[in-house]
Amino acid sequence: MKCAIILAGGKGTRMKADCPKVMCKVLFKPMISYVIDAVKEAGVEDICVITGYKHEEVEAYLSQDIKTALQEPQLGTGHAVMQANDFIASHLGDDILILNGDGPLMDAETINKAYDYHKNNANAITLISAMVDDTTGIGHIKRDENGTLLRIVEDKDATEEEKLIKESNAGCYWFGGADLQYALSNITNENVQNEYYLTDSLEILISAGKNAGAYVVENSEVVLGANDRKQLNDLNTIMRRNINTRLMLEGVDIPCTDGVMIGKDVKIGNSTVILPNTIIIGDTVIGDGCEIGPNTYIDNSTIGNGVILDNCKILDSTVENGVDCGPFVKVRANSTLAENVHIGNFVEVKNSHVGKGTKSAHLTYIGDSDVGSDVNFGCGTVTCNYDGKTKSRCTIGNGAFIGCNTNLIAPVEVGDMAYIAAGSTITDSIPEKALSVARARQVIKEGWVEKKKPYKNQK
Ligand code: UD1
Ligand code: CA
Repeated sequence: MKCAIILAGGKGTRMKADCPKVMCKVLFKPMISYVIDAVKEAGVEDICVITGYKHEEVEAYLSQDIKTALQEPQLGTGHAVMQANDFIASHLGDDILILNGDGPLMDAETINKAYDYHKNNANAITLISAMVDDTTGIGHIKRDENGTLLRIVEDKDATEEEKLIKESNAGCYWFGGADLQYALSNITNENVQNEYYLTDSLEILISAGKNAGAYVVENSEVVLGANDRKQLNDLNTIMRRNINTRLMLEGVDIPCTDGVMIGKDVKIGNSTVILPNTIIIGDTVIGDGCEIGPNTYIDNSTIGNGVILDNCKILDSTVENGVDCGPFVKVRANSTLAENVHIGNFVEVKNSHVGKGTKSAHLTYIGDSDVGSDVNFGCGTVTCNYDGKTKSRCTIGNGAFIGCNTNLIAPVEVGDMAYIAAGSTITDSIPEKALSVARARQVIKEGWVEKKKPYKNQK
């Protein structure tokens, strides 16, 4: 059985963040979420996360199936793993993967290739390493003249000569369960930082006559972590490029990637065009042949085929085939725009169902409403859904015509095919096919201005 320990106890002082370092985000998701996804995708069945600094925040984020162990105080990566003693004791005959929670580019393929290497060589420890140009702050992999592994030297403890070693420790290791237990019982804090280094396990197991190996990855990016905001930005850049590239190869058209940030879990169909400054995140699914952007933000929404979203914000909603939205449209949580709806300039929809073919082309608020199909909203319609205390719903029937500048005072029902005169304030429900005029009648007073001269400069 494969199991894993993820290190997430550190504060991440250099990040200068209020949250634990592993909760710092890459493409709008905490770094640790990527590590957990990779581990699960690699077939790991039992996971223990080591928490420490602001552990409640990490614990609240983790799903129920993940175990935790608290490290208090945080005395280094070796000390962190020691807190998982019980977890390790229950997996002595298994293979245990240990990884840093701040390395979100590590992937399942690399983890499993390292696992195969680990098993094929009957290793007690297999670490993942890569050739890295900027080795500041990392562990250098020290080998003898024959290339045999000796130990890992942390950058802070390294001599000038050791600092030149480019082969770097990724912070991701496979251990035999019993071998890990043995190594931990021998780690000390005799080093520059007075920390218990997990990396000392390599030398400890080699000294005990065990097999040790390093699986060297070709793509050194998978080993990158983030200790500060600059490195966090680097990870965002790499992750963003990788996702955009994958989508393009799958048939998504991104003519210019400027400002295009697409989350890892987003699915986008063939021949959909994504235009600049578009952010798509959460569990969003977009169909084929859509045009999304420019300047569009979509979170956690389902978008059908052939949809146009131009300068829109779409949150937790469903947009069906053929819908045309924008520019400057906001669709808030729990809304559905059914097939071929057209929502135009400066329109907001919230917690509403808008039926097939309905049009709301300009300056309208549709909140807490059930709107039928083929309704026409005139410019400036407002569903007045809130009286200061309670929210109420409006129901608008199929084929209704809502004149410009109508206020619908909820709760109110507009029947099928009903017709509302422009400028009406509707307080009472309207039967189907009826006309409702709810405005003061126009009054004309001939010559009134001549007599009154109501304006300051009027001659
Ligand atoms: C570590 C490795 C280094 C490797 C690098 C790769 C050690 C001693 N060094 O260094 O060889 O090249 O990762 O990124 O392991 N953590 C705890 N408790 C602690 C300290 C850390 O849970 O007491 C967690 C952190 O939250 C983090 C992970 O362990 O997720 C790594 O810690 P960090 O301090 O970033 O280690 P590095 O200095 O980067
Ligand atoms: Ca680190």
